[in-house]
Amino acid sequence: MGIHTLAIHAGEAPDPTTGALVPPLHLANTFFLGSAEDGAAIFAGEKDGFVYSRWGNPTVALLEKRIAALEHAPAALATASGMAAISTAILNIVRAGDHVIAAQAIYPSTYHLFANELRALGIETTFVDATDPQNIARAIVPNTKLIYLESPGNPILALCDLRAIATIARDAKIISITDNTFATPINQQPLDFGIDVVVHSATKYFGGHGDAVGGVIVGSREFIKQCANEPLRFFGGILSPFNAYLILRGIQTLPLRMERHNANARAIAQFLQTHRAVEWVAYPGLPSHPQYALAQKQMRGFGGMVCFELKGGINSGARLMNAVKLCSLAVSLGDTRTLIVHPASTTHSVVTRAERIAQGVSDGLVRLSVGLEDVEDIIADLERGLEKK
Ligand SMILES: Cc1ncc(COP(=O)(O)O)c(C=O)c1O
Repeated sequence: MGIHTLAIHAGEAPDPTTGALVPPLHLANTFFLGSAEDGAAIFAGEKDGFVYSRWGNPTVALLEKRIAALEHAPAALATASGMAAISTAILNIVRAGDHVIAAQAIYPSTYHLFANELRALGIETTFVDATDPQNIARAIVPNTKLIYLESPGNPILALCDLRAIATIARDAKIISITDNTFATPINQQPLDFGIDVVVHSATKYFGGHGDAVGGVIVGSREFIKQCANEPLRFFGGILSPFNAYLILRGIQTLPLRMERHNANARAIAQFLQTHRAVEWVAYPGLPSHPQYALAQKQMRGFGGMVCFELKGGINSGARLMNAVKLCSLAVSLGDTRTLIVHPASTTHSVVTRAERIAQGVSDGLVRLSVGLEDVEDIIADLERGLEKK
């Protein structure tokens, strides 16, 4: 079935007791086990059944089936946030003494997780410029257990060649994970290129309305079962059924919304490229993007995220944030409304300038999460802001 149909129907069945077509929101913490024999069979794994919501919940399970279908995956596992998905998937693979290779240009909290939290647990990470797959091949050492990617990467929209890196990983018997939050399965399905595991912040495009934090891990049945039975169950970062319900609701319009995010972002990237206050624009759908050919090969659409560098350095970024009216100065992405952020004066103001520049966050860099408003209105707001700046 097509992607629009799957987004609305995958995994669903009318409620057997009421016939309700909208999936019910199951808030129960615990479930009746039936007889002692049934209970024993469920605990022994011989019979399917819900036991306790930290181990599995019907509303959350429907969300997992829906996302697995969209990602062309055998199974999925929902988590409390994108970071819970990332940490659960990683902790299902690595132990003290293991080595990880990670792309350098990734979401700052993921970078921190590798550089600080996992390091403290005895897991070393080598960060590489993953735009060249050979940098990954060269960084492999005998105890490398994981290759971690993000494509397009946050915030500067660098791409990883998913097929080439998946091949390197498989040849070396190393598990590969990619964060597909920016692309969504509407624009890119990494498992089709041989990547083993996909992670998402469902807080972003899946939910789509800025009102539910969540995450998801996607992969083989064995991998997902192990994540569910070990790190997720015992570290406890499960998704609330209420947020699963909201994210399921959002996913029904994901393909439709992504068409509009893609179209609006492309038009805005083209507008910015011609503006005299703008030094350069990064958008994978623009021929000027250094990896435009790769984008054409592995993406169907190029997403709603646009980055640009303002002439005039750090102060010009701060001035633009104060000059726009329709675009909201806020972190996060993937909402219906357009969000704008100047990392150097906000998200990255806590790190040194040198560290920030090493992560690709230059002084005048602005990140836009292009929303679903009329594109003429977003452009008019930016144009006004760029004139005032
Ligand atoms: C690419 C990417 N991955 C993961 C996350 C973390 O997601 P969450 O905030 O849901 O934990 C974010 C958050 O911005 C992100 O941009």
